Amino acid sequence: MRKWTHIGIVGAGTMGGGIAQVAAEAGCQVTLVDASQEALAKHESILQATMNKLVAKGRRSQEQVDNALSNITRTSELNALSGTDVVIEAIVESMEAKQKLFQALEQVVSENCVLATNTSSLSVTGVASSCGHPERVIGLHFFNPAPLMGLVEVIPALQTDSALGPHAMDTMTSWGKSPALVQDSPGFIVNRVARPFYSEAIRILEEGLASVEDIDASMRALGFRMGPFELMDLIGHDVNYAVTSTVHAAFFGDPRYRPSHTQRQLVAANWLGRKKGRGFYAYNSEGKHNTTGQVLDGVGQRILTMLMNEAADAVFWQVASPEAIDTAMQRGVNYPKGLLAWLDERGAQDVVAELDALHMRYGEERYRCSPLLRDMVRAGTRFF
Ligand code: NAI
Repeated sequence: MRKWTHIGIVGAGTMGGGIAQVAAEAGCQVTLVDASQEALAKHESILQATMNKLVAKGRRSQEQVDNALSNITRTSELNALSGTDVVIEAIVESMEAKQKLFQALEQVVSENCVLATNTSSLSVTGVASSCGHPERVIGLHFFNPAPLMGLVEVIPALQTDSALGPHAMDTMTSWGKSPALVQDSPGFIVNRVARPFYSEAIRILEEGLASVEDIDASMRALGFRMGPFELMDLIGHDVNYAVTSTVHAAFFGDPRYRPSHTQRQLVAANWLGRKKGRGFYAYNSEGKHNTTGQVLDGVGQRILTMLMNEAADAVFWQVASPEAIDTAMQRGVNYPKGLLAWLDERGAQDVVAELDALHMRYGEERYRCSPLLRDMVRAGTRFF
């Protein structure tokens, strides 16, 4: 397959802008397209400021920065993408908009140019289906901020040429990223496996077993940088609730992924989190909140158990390999350890016992244990 040296990016917002920096710093020629001139101008000034800071901190030399900046061309003309080896799309999260763009791109680019989507929740197969050559389409899901987060989920669609996945994996590695190959399935790895981090925390809160502050403190004590509630407040409840609802619907309503009433209420109240000064916490003018909570061992462990079960179940359903899943959670959302390596340490038997106790108590589907964990206990095997 052709080496990717000239990269097209459509969408110069949060993600497209970050991906442009990554590709330019990897030495690629980048043509960045956005329908909005304002977005392009904003990207130019933000990137310049970021690069100046990196030089001031000694993280980049002036020469490195000059080279990277000179690798980027900005335009509103889609036609400028005609000579690219790959185009990475990072426009609005709408199937209709993405399909329309891909159809327009196929009129512009060469026959063997790869078309990639940075979608975080849509079916890559669905995006590809609008193309005359769906075999050239793939998902490349970067994480925010793209220059800092190591993970890229590489998602071949049902129609994707079998050589394209490995080629994209190699290219992402050469860009300094940690790619994880994942089946085109709801939430891919991170947005699927991380669901219990939020949903089980809310569940514990709804039952009155612990406070927001205590649950956050308990998760931080396990090594997570932020507790579930402060993280949801940071992401924004509009965004987090939408992802949960999308994943739930994509699983045909599997109750395991059911969104919570509590989060819907926050959205209804427009208490969207830090950006609104109010979410689970109230924020002062500096965006700070009171984080004093007590560490409750059972609470942290229950959420962790649910996360481990979700990760194991993703392996069971062949969504990704254990290695890819552990890489994804560490490099995409900064988990302190890979969930499956952590599960090995704790012992599958212990995790199964806690899940069975929860299932016995509540009788709910969300607490069903992955068949893979039972098999592992029976056979005495580990993930690694
Ligand atoms: P954004 O709103 O910051 O940027 C989107 C940009 O695309 C805007 O500058 C807009 O002018 C431009 N645009 C929209 N339609 C266009 C079109 N047809 N042609 C040319 N330009 C067009 O959005 P953001 O947050 O960067 O998200 C982009 C994509 O990345 C979405 O699919 C999103 O789901 C995905 N994503 C977002 C993450 C995040 O944390 N923000 C993380 C990972 C993926």
